[in-house]
Amino acid sequence: PHIPLPPDMYGEGRKNSRGVNLTINSQLEPLLEKVRHYDSQQWTGGPMVANKLEADPALKQTVVSPFDHRQTVGTVQWANAAQTQAALDAAVDAFPGWNATDVSERAAIVRKIGDLLEEHMPELMALCCREAGKQLSDGVAEVREAVDFCRYYANRAEQLFGQTETLPGPTGESNELYLTGRGPFVAISPWNFPVAIFMGQIMAAVVSGNTVVAKPAEQTSLVACRCVELMYQAGLPKAVLQLLPGDGPTVGQVLTADSRVTGVAFTGSTETAQVINRALAARDNAPLAALVAETGGQNAMIVDSTALPEQVVADVVESSFTSAGQRCSALRVLFLQEDIADKVIEILAGAMQELELGDPRELTTDVGPVIDADAKAGLLAHVEKFRAKGRIIAEGKLPAGAEHGHFVVPVAIALDDMNELEREQFGPILHIVRWKATELDTVINKINAAGYGLTMGIHSRNEGFAEEIDRKVRIGNVYVNRNIIGAVVGVQPFGGMGLSGTGPKAGGPHYLLRFATERTRTINT
Ligand code: NAD
Ligand code: ALA
Repeated sequence: PHIPLPPDMYGEGRKNSRGVNLTINSQLEPLLEKVRHYDSQQWTGGPMVANKLEADPALKQTVVSPFDHRQTVGTVQWANAAQTQAALDAAVDAFPGWNATDVSERAAIVRKIGDLLEEHMPELMALCCREAGKQLSDGVAEVREAVDFCRYYANRAEQLFGQTETLPGPTGESNELYLTGRGPFVAISPWNFPVAIFMGQIMAAVVSGNTVVAKPAEQTSLVACRCVELMYQAGLPKAVLQLLPGDGPTVGQVLTADSRVTGVAFTGSTETAQVINRALAARDNAPLAALVAETGGQNAMIVDSTALPEQVVADVVESSFTSAGQRCSALRVLFLQEDIADKVIEILAGAMQELELGDPRELTTDVGPVIDADAKAGLLAHVEKFRAKGRIIAEGKLPAGAEHGHFVVPVAIALDDMNELEREQFGPILHIVRWKATELDTVINKINAAGYGLTMGIHSRNEGFAEEIDRKVRIGNVYVNRNIIGAVVGVQPFGGMGLSGTGPKAGGPHYLLRFATERTRTINT
């Protein structure tokens, strides 16, 4: 069906933020110099609650770098129970005033936040690198996406809110339909996009008139604190956005059980989304909350025998190993038609040998660390299970000094069947399944039966092939003859279905609708 889109979202008026081209020295060098300025900086952070309360010294955490745990990044204070309650109280009190604030005023603050993020790109990149182990290119992309979210949602809010639609009615009666904020929202974000997703959730909620209590991922609390400081600097009132760094199950459980919360924006694992869904449903006498959940995937790519092997390999390497495979969009299962499989695997094995693992601050690094020791242990256990079965097809190599960081070598594993995968492996691990030309429907059925529906790739020079797959799969974002990561705000609205999320798509024209509620006003004139 044709979905009408707002005029200046996709047309000539749409502009994504500039970013930096790291292959052009005149852009790269000045940026690098600024990022290096933060090489030994130590940051501090903690709960940012409208009413300041005593911190609990036992909840102070030291933050170390995933690529070298001998390097500290700073300290962060986690929120205690009193601070959590105080934040909820303030979010409830502040809602009516913020919701009544003109949408153009809310949008102006959100645009200003985007400008400030852009201005502070070097510091935010340094934090992404040192706290989350993100590479420089990922750091640029993080900030760009966050800036895009600010501008896109500000534009969209001005189209959706603050104006009423007059509806036809009998003479003597006026009927109007309009959108308004829902109430206090909780925003719970993951560590793998500690700026972009953290900011995207909050910007969507506040520009729509809601107040927000945000809980960032434990692993990336410092960069979240820095973003909140910038949001306050731009003029966002303190009670409109409050931050509670802390343990997910502890702080998150209190927030999602509170009967005053009207919505939750969550991005993270499918398992946690299910816990939150149950917590919201179990509340007595509470509003039926809106849950926007963006979760994991078991993302596949189907390659037929007409595809170009070199292009397939380039796109597979990018899709599986960029950000050390720690993207919800990353490729997990590559289906190679048997006529082309040997050729692709041969080139792929060579390409994987060339991948440089190492310090994400170095431009020569292709693959950085995974986020923490638990992630590394889980991924290695998975690899070793298949190594014992003789299923490793190709593997990269560890750099010197790797023992000081959480490095996992990129690996390709042969599977007989996608069903052998029990859960998403959130790291640089690719699985390969061979298929025969007669088995396309079986492959599609397996992908659909896995229950996820986030991203998918198709490589083929046969147009009908891609069209048939696209028609039959239940996947949110399908990419043909390219990589499957890096959705751009306003260009590839992003989000899945089934176990991968509720929608609406982030960076798309319908996202704000879930943060709003509709009202109809009828007046007998
Ligand atoms: P996670 O589910 O472990 O944690 C996400 C957030 O939930 C964190 O802030 C955590 O503290 C919090 N949390 C944990 N338990 C909670 C509870 N009981 N109640 C409330 N909050 C709780 O996920 P993660 O490891 O941080 O992130 C990786 C996952 O996120 C992967 O599965 C990935 O696919 C997914 N992801 C999805 C998208 C998307 O757009 N679909 C984007 C990025 C990441
Ligand atoms: N939006 C991110 C991507 O597409 C998750 O890679």
